[in-house]
Amino acid sequence: MEMNQKIVLASRPAAWVEESNFRLEDCGIPQAGNNQVLVRNHWLSLDPYMRGRMSDAKSYAKPVAIGEVMIGGTAGEVVQSNHPDFVAGDKVVGALGWQLFGVADGGALRKVDAGTIPLSAWLGPLGMPGVTAWVGLLDICAPQPGETVVVTAASGAVGSVVGQLAKIHGARAVGIAGGPDKCRYVVDELGFDACIDYKAGKLHGELMAAAPEGIDCLFENVGGEIFDTLLTQMKPFSRIALCGLISQYNGAPYPMQNIRAVLINRIRMQGFIVFDDLSRWPPALEELTGHVASGRIKYRESVADGLAAAPAALISLLKGGNFGKQLVRLA
Ligand SMILES: NC(=O)c1ccc[n+]([C@@H]2O[C@H](COP(=O)([O-])OP(=O)(O)OC[C@H]3O[C@@H](n4cnc5c(N)ncnc54)[C@H](OP(=O)(O)O)[C@@H]3O)[C@@H](O)[C@H]2O)c1
Repeated sequence: MEMNQKIVLASRPAAWVEESNFRLEDCGIPQAGNNQVLVRNHWLSLDPYMRGRMSDAKSYAKPVAIGEVMIGGTAGEVVQSNHPDFVAGDKVVGALGWQLFGVADGGALRKVDAGTIPLSAWLGPLGMPGVTAWVGLLDICAPQPGETVVVTAASGAVGSVVGQLAKIHGARAVGIAGGPDKCRYVVDELGFDACIDYKAGKLHGELMAAAPEGIDCLFENVGGEIFDTLLTQMKPFSRIALCGLISQYNGAPYPMQNIRAVLINRIRMQGFIVFDDLSRWPPALEELTGHVASGRIKYRESVADGLAAAPAALISLLKGGNFGKQLVRLA
């Protein structure tokens, strides 16, 4: 008889996440109740926000409890449905967590077309990361044609979509990424105008060359010294979409030196969470689906194999070991 397997949070990390913070458990396959659906997960999305949910520090969302299944976005196939909108065989995305089988209310699942677009893409450019890119870029930064958009973690799930969308909307796109391979990919494959390898240690100088007139829109994903350096090149009345601060998720906050640039340049900076306004998801997904289907938005995936590989893959993601959207193939 087929069994379920799940990974639960065993302990909270002190600084960097360790494999011992997780525990793999065998368990029974859950039963779908009224209006619920049983799903066999094929893909698990690994995302930087998971580091925050492993901690009990105050944040915008509740932490995962010790012993509870790790939170996570999933894509899979309906096995059995007690909900009128779903039948066995439907492909769905949801948030069923780090497990092979999960049950959700029908209202918490989204049916997707995995015929023309691979199922995994619904967790990347057509999932939470893609919508994050769309909301932060178009609603918050709102670049005008010809303006310069800079995005950090540019080869990643969110950043790769930000730069490509910026180009589609007529802006210049400059990426910041770690290492020559990621930078080559960002320019040669994704079509950004430039990419700066921050690990080469010449961020400030290369920024002056890539954005000589300054930055109109900054889509910030990493924080710390990189963000602090980028502040020095922001234009008057420029905009910052503060999306993430991944460089600080495991350690002490970075003491910013250049925050004065926000005042003297009258910069508008807004932090946002992609779930703040759910009414923005349908227009975002409509535009993104068109671009992914036509090949205008390209994406790359880092795939770990099997549920047991998820902890190591999350640890690697938090250290920049991923190249594109980090996924776990479950079946
Ligand atoms: N606000 C929201 O609603 C929302 C939603 C989704 C994601 N986010 C945030 O968006 C950011 C990107 O998420 P993602 O899912 O697209 O991840 P991702 O970019 O696919 O992967 C994370 C990347 O961050 C970079 N990174 C890690 N540690 C770093 C460090 N110390 N300094 C500089 N760069 C570092 C690495 O790229 P390099 O090798 O290029 O350094 C790594 O590949 C994260 O901060 C995440 O928390 C926010």
